Amino acid sequence: MLRGLNGKLKNRVRAGSLRACWLAAAWLPVALAACDAHGPEGETRAGASATTVTVASLAASTPRVSVVPVVPAVHAAAPGRAQTRAEVYEQVGKMTALGKQLFFDASLSGSGKLACASCHSPDHGFTPGNALAVQLGGGDMRQQGMRAVPTLKYLQSVPAFTEHFHDSEDEGDESIDAGPTGGLTWDGRVDRGSEQARIPILSTFEMGSTPGKVAAAVKAAPYANEFRAAFGEHIFDDTDATFNAVLQSLETFEQKPETFYPYTSRYDAALAGKVKLSAAELHGLELFNDEKKGNCASCHLSQRARDGSPPQFSDFGLIAIGVPRNRALKVNRDPRFYDLGACGPERTDLKGRDEYCGIFRTPTLRNVALKKRFFHNGIYQSLEEVVRFYAQRDTNPEKFYPVVKGKVQKFDDLPKRYWANLNTEPPFDRKPGDAPALDEAEIKDVVAFLNTLTDGYQPAAH
Ligand code: HEC
Ligand code: HEC
Repeated sequence: MLRGLNGKLKNRVRAGSLRACWLAAAWLPVALAACDAHGPEGETRAGASATTVTVASLAASTPRVSVVPVVPAVHAAAPGRAQTRAEVYEQVGKMTALGKQLFFDASLSGSGKLACASCHSPDHGFTPGNALAVQLGGGDMRQQGMRAVPTLKYLQSVPAFTEHFHDSEDEGDESIDAGPTGGLTWDGRVDRGSEQARIPILSTFEMGSTPGKVAAAVKAAPYANEFRAAFGEHIFDDTDATFNAVLQSLETFEQKPETFYPYTSRYDAALAGKVKLSAAELHGLELFNDEKKGNCASCHLSQRARDGSPPQFSDFGLIAIGVPRNRALKVNRDPRFYDLGACGPERTDLKGRDEYCGIFRTPTLRNVALKKRFFHNGIYQSLEEVVRFYAQRDTNPEKFYPVVKGKVQKFDDLPKRYWANLNTEPPFDRKPGDAPALDEAEIKDVVAFLNTLTDGYQPAAH
């Protein structure tokens, strides 16, 4: 049985972040080392200590370092021979620094006004600072996107997309097929940060740029010399090579542990025994985990994995939960248009696979309290509304879907022929007249718990 089709299998053992290491293995040594840095206690050490561990583990683990050659740009600094670990480490450092500058550079966009950071603001957990459901972009900065902006944090643990996901032995039960899982973006359509970065740069409703424009902007940028130092004196002679180096640098920056996966939330402090959650937060956590109440943790994993690595608050499964249509979006003015997630139209390789229509990748809930819009179409503006949707979708559908001539138009953003794909596990196992899975006081406590997942918690000085 596939989870994506028939709802989630109960009692699936919590997966954790060894996955982090799989994807990192395809990505970069920096993240690889960060996997190592989650020691047996599942602690990640941020800042300078993470860097130290990085160097040490690069020096220690020969087989892992052999993955480095998958990063073509790394070769640029030392063509024709294998690099030493020290050279690799130095190259990663240069690319991280460049990636950061590129990330904030609006001159890469067609309008000259939009940087990655415009939509992924570091002050808001790498989500937008404004409360728009979807962001504006394009040459005139007036083109509306069709999806809400996800956080860029904790993506290091997203596995590459697969239709049949099996947990590793360290994390859970290998024999269970968890169905479609992983990949970047809401529909999992790309696997690497570099491929992903290409999407907004070229999209007509986002940065609206071209490889040529990007190459020219970088050549004229204050950091052009650093770019040459990292990728070779002649890098600007070749537009495609320059563009690829830009994409690689962005991908490398996105894996900087202390910026993108610091594990410094109040909840992490509580897991490490450094702080006690309040009564409301603890009650919220219980409801979040309780299979008969919120059952949230069945998808948004909240416990450490078997190997001790910290929870990612997502199993990265692609799931249909029947989020209402956001009628404020321009794309939705066309009544024939549906954003069906994995089966299209943004994603094209699974087109015609009806069993994948309406499924979206489960997002992490780390830093979710910093977001101003929720779900793939940004329909809700507060965590209370989101949790109420989970609790009352089936008991009080009229609160969430339009009512036409007295009839509730349930699941109005998914054509009926795909309704079999909708998840039916708790809290989605009820009908009108039943008691909601969570009452209003319980919803409040779940939200209090979600507020403990924001990074940057400073335990009071002793
Ligand atoms: C106009 C707003 C906007 C800009 C500018 C933008 N993004 Fe995004 N980003 C989005 C949206 C919307 C999504 C979700 C897209 C989807 O699901 O199809 C997204 C998704 C992502 C993801 C995948 C996140 C996940 O959960 O899988 C990454 C990584 C990312 N963006 C990086 C970047 C980088 C790097 C840049 C700059 C080159 C950038 N973005 C520029 C809006 C933006
Ligand atoms: C069956 C799997 C599943 C369960 C159970 C589940 N979620 Fe989710 N969650 C998802 C998916 C999938 C999405 C994205 C759906 C979409 O946008 O179409 C999501 C999105 C969210 C979001 C929005 C995050 C964002 O970045 O926009 C929040 C908040 C959330 N869930 C909280 C909860 C809470 C609280 C519970 C328990 C009451 C819960 N979830 C139960 C799968 C699940």
